[in-house]
Amino acid sequence: MDEDFVGVFDSGVGGISILKKLTDLLPREDFLFYGDSANAPYGEKSEEEVRALSMDIIDRLVSRGAKAVVIACNTATSAVAQQAREKYPYVPIVGVEPAVKPAAMKLTHKKVLVMATPQTLAREKYKNLASRFEEQASLIPLACPGLASRIERGDLGGEDLHQMLYDLLSPYVGQVDGVVLGCTHYPFVKPQIRKVLGDIPFFDGGEGTARQLRRRLTEEGFLTDRTTPGWVIFDSSIKTEQEIVLYERMFSLAGDC
Ligand code: DGL
Repeated sequence: MDEDFVGVFDSGVGGISILKKLTDLLPREDFLFYGDSANAPYGEKSEEEVRALSMDIIDRLVSRGAKAVVIACNTATSAVAQQAREKYPYVPIVGVEPAVKPAAMKLTHKKVLVMATPQTLAREKYKNLASRFEEQASLIPLACPGLASRIERGDLGGEDLHQMLYDLLSPYVGQVDGVVLGCTHYPFVKPQIRKVLGDIPFFDGGEGTARQLRRRLTEEGFLTDRTTPGWVIFDSSIKTEQEIVLYERMFSLAGDC
């Protein structure tokens, strides 16, 4: 592997929704995606556990030669981004956060449901973000325990998934004007969420993260000068062929996210 790739990681398949946006915007860059599916879900672990797991992955990506790291997980970003930037000041480290800002800008004085993991919503980082925009829009946080794990299984058509979304979301039908998908797993079930909540606007951090990566690589002079398409490689803490096949399938589905 040459030492000019961008390392991207998540607790599992969710980060693949971000990876797709990165490869769309930066098709000539090389990407190594690492999913920590053996330890998913992060959103129901303590902050210390998520920080230790995430820092270990960042250490390994940097030692394999990553020129930049994208933390494609809202939960891990709140737990580790700041420390990782202090530890590796020479490596651009880009995180994701719930897309509250674009939602509040677009839906001024309206009601916005913010779906995320229990850990993301409990962190100081989210509270600060929400307080910056609470005048702009009425934000309704909704912790969704179990949803990322269910998506992690990959079978997205099951009746049990529809029932889980119905149980979580039916109190908000007709009550909200837009939805923030504050966990990178959730864009994979956007059609299923829309089935319950109807045709309202959705916001996620994918495109903003891709623009931020391009900005940071440009600032550091790290953009590739290659003119041919880059590669995308998948790796996982579940060391089976099927897991990599699942990641590749999710990457092809991510085009519709
Ligand atoms: N995909 C992650 C996020 O964006 C977390 C999912 C999990 O709980 O592992 O927060």
